[in-house]
Amino acid sequence: MAGTEVATDRGRGWDRVVAAVYDRVLAGAERAGLAADRTALLAGASGRVVELGPGTGANLAHLPRGLTALTLVEPSPAMRARLRARLATLRAGDPERLPPAEVVAADGAAIPVPDGAADTVVVTLVLCSVPDPAAVLAEVRRVLAPGGRLLLLEHVVAAGGRTRRLQRWLTPAWRRVAQGCHLDRDTRSALVAAGFDVTGVSDHRIPGAGPIGPALIGSARPVS
Ligand SMILES: C[S@@+](CC[C@H](N)C(=O)[O-])C[C@H]1O[C@@H](n2cnc3c(N)ncnc32)[C@H](O)[C@@H]1O
Repeated sequence: MAGTEVATDRGRGWDRVVAAVYDRVLAGAERAGLAADRTALLAGASGRVVELGPGTGANLAHLPRGLTALTLVEPSPAMRARLRARLATLRAGDPERLPPAEVVAADGAAIPVPDGAADTVVVTLVLCSVPDPAAVLAEVRRVLAPGGRLLLLEHVVAAGGRTRRLQRWLTPAWRRVAQGCHLDRDTRSALVAAGFDVTGVSDHRIPGAGPIGPALIGSARPVS
């Protein structure tokens, strides 16, 4: 798997623009609490970690020490370039901070790791964008070792009311500018349908994010 570059690149001009502005767009939410949410969530990571859609690497500085291995599965070439740069910066500042890591060009619906090879899978702000969440969650189940868990922080459809109506109305246009992102995904139902125990997943709110605010945070385990 080392050095694998799967030919799933979608990146062209808009991909580069999104990657270039991504951290700045999220900066306010990160300061308002998203960064703290990442730290709290990722404190639960252990062993061999696979992250799907790591983007520019916003989670890297929040991972706990002592992990065994890190596989970063990112289909966007522009995101991967920024991810590699952030990895290098973190390593330069503290060589022991992160475990051996590889950046893999692949899709979350076809994760290039063997069955049961991950103790932790991480997805944050990704299931909103994947074309087929059920396919990705089936892959997460496949790669998780017995006793392993999925750590997730995902914005989702609102329970109802004005925010839900706004999400439904905005999603067709939003998908086009935000690389397939749906504001109205029912990710809790998708997790249950995929065979995950969601008792460790809580309703949450991403601060300062408007219709992107309603969220889920926590850990999900495959039901055996
Ligand atoms: C909104 S960004 C989230 C980045 C990062 N996880 C975070 O928390 O800031 C969505 C990321 O998911 C990636 N992505 C989109 N479709 C994907 C797929 N099918 N499989 C894996 N990653 C995907 C995008 O390239 C992008 O890096």
